[in-house]
Amino acid sequence: MHGVQSPGSGGVAGLGPVAARSPWAIDFGSESFLTDPWPVYAYLRAHDPVHWSADNHCFFLLRHERVREALARRDFTVDFPFRASRQLFGPNLLDVDGPAHRELRRLIAPAFNAAAVEGYAGRAIEPVVRELLDGLAGRDRVDFVADFAARVPYGVVCRLMGIPAADAPWLYAQMRPVVHNLDYPRGPLDPALAARRELEAYFSALLVTQRAAPPDTILGALQRGGGASADAAGVDAAGADAAGHVLGTTLLLLLAATETSISAIANVMACLLRHPGALAGVAARPGSIPAVVAESLRWEPPLHSVLRFAAEDINIDGVLIPRRAAVQLSLASANRDAAAFGDPDRWDPGRAERAHLTFGGGRHGCPGFQLASRELHLIYQLLIERFATIESDGDDIPLIRGHVFRRPTSLPVRWAPRTTA
Ligand code: HEM
Repeated sequence: MHGVQSPGSGGVAGLGPVAARSPWAIDFGSESFLTDPWPVYAYLRAHDPVHWSADNHCFFLLRHERVREALARRDFTVDFPFRASRQLFGPNLLDVDGPAHRELRRLIAPAFNAAAVEGYAGRAIEPVVRELLDGLAGRDRVDFVADFAARVPYGVVCRLMGIPAADAPWLYAQMRPVVHNLDYPRGPLDPALAARRELEAYFSALLVTQRAAPPDTILGALQRGGGASADAAGVDAAGADAAGHVLGTTLLLLLAATETSISAIANVMACLLRHPGALAGVAARPGSIPAVVAESLRWEPPLHSVLRFAAEDINIDGVLIPRRAAVQLSLASANRDAAAFGDPDRWDPGRAERAHLTFGGGRHGCPGFQLASRELHLIYQLLIERFATIESDGDDIPLIRGHVFRRPTSLPVRWAPRTTA
């Protein structure tokens, strides 16, 4: 591509080049990569850390330090008209840089600060989780993914956006083709675009009804002040709205607030089930929940990589990344880099290093990380309060699978409620 050699094409001393479909290729069509990408990441981190993937027509950055730097660099941009998310959502926060991005971040900031998140915990997260668990009372076996993890974030987002709770299953169903397309962008786009049109009509109407929502709510913040004062760059809320960013960002928020959280809720449980005694340990020491959640998010992040484009020719560690080349920043590989985490493949909630990159970083770093963390802490607190035991309902714990929105497709568990004396 662009006459640039594959960074692996010079070969690594004694190992030879990283050929396409070698055991070390990043191959999204391979079941073994989708379920166990860790040996591939480890190999590439060691031997080809700025990796050109001919199969995927993009570079991958694998090492923690380089990924962290790249998230903050100005010569990497998200702006690219043919990005799958841009095609699906229209102009939105995730896919824009410069003044429009700064303005959108400024608009949503009040809805994501610590005080706002505390408010959501009481009026949205806790009631939704309690209602769901009440609805499951009497069942000693559930699929933790379908019956619980998939339902909490949609319930919460409905409350946060002023959407009737009865619409949550419809929103979940509409999102399936969109999620499928982001997971497998080589498939046909039409089902996802059809779903997007339905969602767009729904949210256009919702934005009208929520125009007067207070600024410490997500939609209120986003729509605040068609007459808001212009920022230094001369872009204001009206400008952002005129460009269609408010609708696109609302659709993005629905996806960002739900699908990542479903994976996070499910992956934390998968980590706990996979490590004997871990759930009992959490029940004995509820104060360990934040550390357990943080370590599980490091070990099994919901999103494995984020996409950037080189705004100019960039040289990283002797590899030329030409202008306009696509570059995947591998958050998941960074999270398992021994240069940043001792014994990185071990799930160890007691570890001191906390610099995981699961929420990204830099100007596009996840604005919802406090909300997501609060949601996870509360969920696991409420689960251990309610259940004396939670165990895998089967000999094998289903594998976590995927790349974007990575999680087990199901997680059958048996649980027994606490009895009051
Ligand atoms: C555990 C759950 C979550 C994970 C792992 C996660 C992860 C991420 C990551 C890695 C990014 C950076 C994308 C990039 O750099 O290209 C991001 C951005 C974003 N996230 Fe999250 N997220 C989570 C939950 C949430 C929640 C609950 C919300 C909203 C309520 C949210 C809203 C967003 C938005 C709007 C962006 C785009 C920010 C921008 O481009 O400026 N996320 N998230």
